[in-house]
Order: sequence, then structure tokens, then C-alpha cells
Amino acid sequence: MFDEIAPRYDLLNHLLSFGVDCRWRKAAAEAALAKGPRRILDVATGTGDLAILLKRICPEAEVVGLDFAPQMLRRARKKAARAGVELTLVEGDALAMPFPDGSFDVLTVAFGFRNFADYEAGLREFHRVLAPDGRAVILEFPPPPKRAFGRLVRFYYHRVLPAIGGLLSGKPQAYRYLPESVERFPEPERMAEMMKAAGFTPEVRLLTGGLAGLFIGDKGA
Ligand SMILES: C[S@@+](CC[C@H](N)C(=O)[O-])C[C@H]1O[C@@H](n2cnc3c(N)ncnc32)[C@H](O)[C@@H]1O
Repeated sequence: MFDEIAPRYDLLNHLLSFGVDCRWRKAAAEAALAKGPRRILDVATGTGDLAILLKRICPEAEVVGLDFAPQMLRRARKKAARAGVELTLVEGDALAMPFPDGSFDVLTVAFGFRNFADYEAGLREFHRVLAPDGRAVILEFPPPPKRAFGRLVRFYYHRVLPAIGGLLSGKPQAYRYLPESVERFPEPERMAEMMKAAGFTPEVRLLTGGLAGLFIGDKGA
């Protein structure tokens, strides 16, 4: 599915989020770079926006991007070359990553985690590849809040987004899948519990009225 939407992914991302996605990635990058990491892994890197941003802000760090969709990675490669930044891009599954234990100081994942088939297994794998004092930063769409704002967001997710996304990408199924995956994502409190169970000390920061969430997990804190 991600390979199919790769050609229009960036355009639709920025359009359908009114450009706020860039601000959210910046917040994720700040949280990720707070402890001065040398080795950074961006999981589910897609077309590489967060990986490129991380390398731009912190050129001395080694930035690796991992994704299982080759067409997304192809775009990431082109974008990194155009931006003049050096990334290592690896094809692989986030639930069984081709890296030894403790390989990275920081791990990020933007809008990829909710697609995982098994959230707990994903968190355990994050914990495994991080160094003893490593940090995981997960940027995701939690289920919309219950208030009036949440009803508006649900209307947008379920009606507006599949219509526009389907029309512009030619893949309506992919944009119907998005609201389904958002509703399936655990509430922030539950996500924090799962992070704790995987061995992290969690911190949750809700962004833009709870539309997005930063889930920060410190290992060994
Ligand atoms: C919505 S895109 C997000 C891409 C990028 N991180 C961003 O911020 O735009 C989700 C990405 O997660 C990848 N993905 C989903 N599940 C994955 C898994 N188990 N292993 C590796 N990549 C995965 C998809 O291929 C897709 O590129």
C-alpha cells in the first residue's frame, strides 16, 4: 500500500495536514536531539522527511533510515541527494530490524508506528536496538479527543481526508485505511503503559490540541 501511494505521498501529507506535519516533525527532532546523539535511527522513514531534518540539524551524527517499502525509500534517496545530506537507507521490517543490540543512541518514528502489526513487539525491538541510555521518540496520531474538537477531527478523518486523498492519489483504500489506523491506535495513557512494559520511562506530549502526540521513551532512566 505504501509503495502504491509513494508518488503522491509528500504532496498529500502537507496538503491534508495544512503543512502542520512539518512543525510536528520539528518537535520530534528537538526531542530526539536533546541528548546529543551520535547514531540516529529513523524507523519507517518513508520518503525521509524526518531523517533529512535530523541530519540537517545535526550533521555530525550518523543518520540511518529504515523502511520496508522500496518505493518510499527510492524517494527518500532522491530527496536526500537533492538536499545534499548523507543518509544510510536500509530496507527492512521495524519488527525485526537488521541491527545488533544497542546500535543507536536515539530512534525516531513519525507516523509509522500505528501501522505496525504488533505494537508491543515494535517497542521491544526499539528497546533492543537502543544503547543503554538511549531514547525513542514516537510521533503519532492518537485517537481524536472526545470533545467537540474531536468530533470535527473525526469528520475530517472519516469524510474529507479519504475523499481528497483517494482522488489525488488514485488509491482510495489507502486513505480509508488512515482513519481506521488512527482509531485503532491506543489512547495516550495506554501507550505510556506499553512503553513502560517494554522497559522505557515514558513521557507524553500532546500537540495541536491532541491531534498529534509525541511519545518519548528513555531507556535506563
Ligand atoms: C505514513 S508513512 C510515514 C513516513 C515518514 N516517517 C513521514 O514522517 O512522513 C508510514 C511508513 O511506515 C512504513 N512502515 C509501516 N510499517 C512498517 C514496518 N513494519 N517496517 C518498516 N516500515 C514500515 C511504511 O512503508 C511507510 O513508509
